[in-house]
Amino acid sequence: MKNVLNILDLSVEEIDQLIATAEDIIKDPIKYSEKCKNYQLATLFFEPSTRTRLSFESAMLALGGKVIGFSDPNSCSATKGESVADTISVVSGYVDIIAMRHPKEGAPLVASSRTLVPIINAGDGGHYHPTQTLADLLTIHKEKGRFENLTIGLCGDLKFGRTVHSLIEAMSRYTGVKFVLISPEELKLPTLIEKDIESKGISIERSNSLEESIGKLDILYMTRVQKERFESEEEYYRLKDLFILTEDKMKLAKPDMIVLHPLPRVNEISTAVDSDKRACYFKQAHYGRYMRMALIMKLLFENDGTREDRFDVKDKIALKYKCSNPHCITTTEPELQNLFVPTNEGDGEYKCIYCDTKILIK
Ligand code: CP
Repeated sequence: MKNVLNILDLSVEEIDQLIATAEDIIKDPIKYSEKCKNYQLATLFFEPSTRTRLSFESAMLALGGKVIGFSDPNSCSATKGESVADTISVVSGYVDIIAMRHPKEGAPLVASSRTLVPIINAGDGGHYHPTQTLADLLTIHKEKGRFENLTIGLCGDLKFGRTVHSLIEAMSRYTGVKFVLISPEELKLPTLIEKDIESKGISIERSNSLEESIGKLDILYMTRVQKERFESEEEYYRLKDLFILTEDKMKLAKPDMIVLHPLPRVNEISTAVDSDKRACYFKQAHYGRYMRMALIMKLLFENDGTREDRFDVKDKIALKYKCSNPHCITTTEPELQNLFVPTNEGDGEYKCIYCDTKILIK
C-alpha cells in the first residue's frame, strides 16, 4: 500500500500519470463520476484549511464517494489527549482513505504506521504539503508545457513554507531547473534542504530583492509568512511585509512569467496583480481538485492491503536525545520513540525520522 507523506513518494512517472488523469477528468468529468462509489474518505484536519480540505471533499464527492471528517481539532478527541496513533487506529476502521493535516511535523508518518488504508499528508506543520505540489505541478504543466529548464523564484517564508519544501523536492528531479531563493535571512530555506539541492548539482541563487530577481524568472512562487509558526508575534510583524508583489514589480518580469501562490494570501500579492494574465494562483487552487481526484483513485485502486512501515529503516537508531524542533510530533506525543537516521554529511550528523531536523552527536 502506498501513502503520500512527501512528494518524493511519487515517482516522476507517477506524477506524469496523475497529470494525464487530471487532464482527462477536466475534459470528461462524467466518466469519473462513479469511480469511487463504494469508497469513503476521512478528512482529519487538526489545523485550519479552506482549499485543501474542501478540494479533497469536493474531489471525493465528484468521484461518487462519501466523506466524513472534522475541520476543527476542538471537535475531536485530540482535545481529550488522544494521540495521533490512536485516532488513526480508530478512523482507519471506518473509511478507505485518509487525508490529514496536523500542526506537528511527522504526524502523518506516525499515522501511516497504524493503518491499512492510505494516508495522504495534507500538510504537517512547516514540513511538507505534497498535494499542494500536485496542484502546482499541474499548473506549471498547463501554463509552461514543461518542467525542464525553468528558473523558479521562491519568495517569502522559505523556512516554514511547507509548500516551498515540497515544490523544491519535486522540481529538483527535472533537468535544467534553477532556484532563486528570495527571503530575509530569518526565513531562509532550512539548511538540510539547501544542501540537498546543492548535492544534486542544481543551481541556487540567494537574493533579498524581488525587484532585482524578478526579471530572470519563468515562475515566481510567492508565499505567505506563516504567522502560526512564529514563537514571537513581534518577529512576525517585523518580517511579514518585506516582499510584496505589486503591479510595478510585474512590469520588470518576463511577459510569459507565471505567478503562483499556494494561498491563502494575506498581503504579499497586491490584489491589483490578480487581473494580470500571468497571475495563475486561483487557477492553481482549482487544479488541486483534479489532482486530488486522480490521487484518491490511484491510492484506492492500487491498495494491496499491506502496511507500509516507514519505521523499518535500515540505518535508524533510537536515541535518548530528543528532537530539538519545537514543531516535531515527538514534542507532544512523548510515548513516541526518538528515532534518527544518519545524514549524507556523516560525522555524527543525524536527522529526526519524523521531521527531518538535524542533530549532531559527538
Ligand atoms: N494551500 C493551502 O494549503 O490552503 P489551505 O490552508 O486553505 O488548505
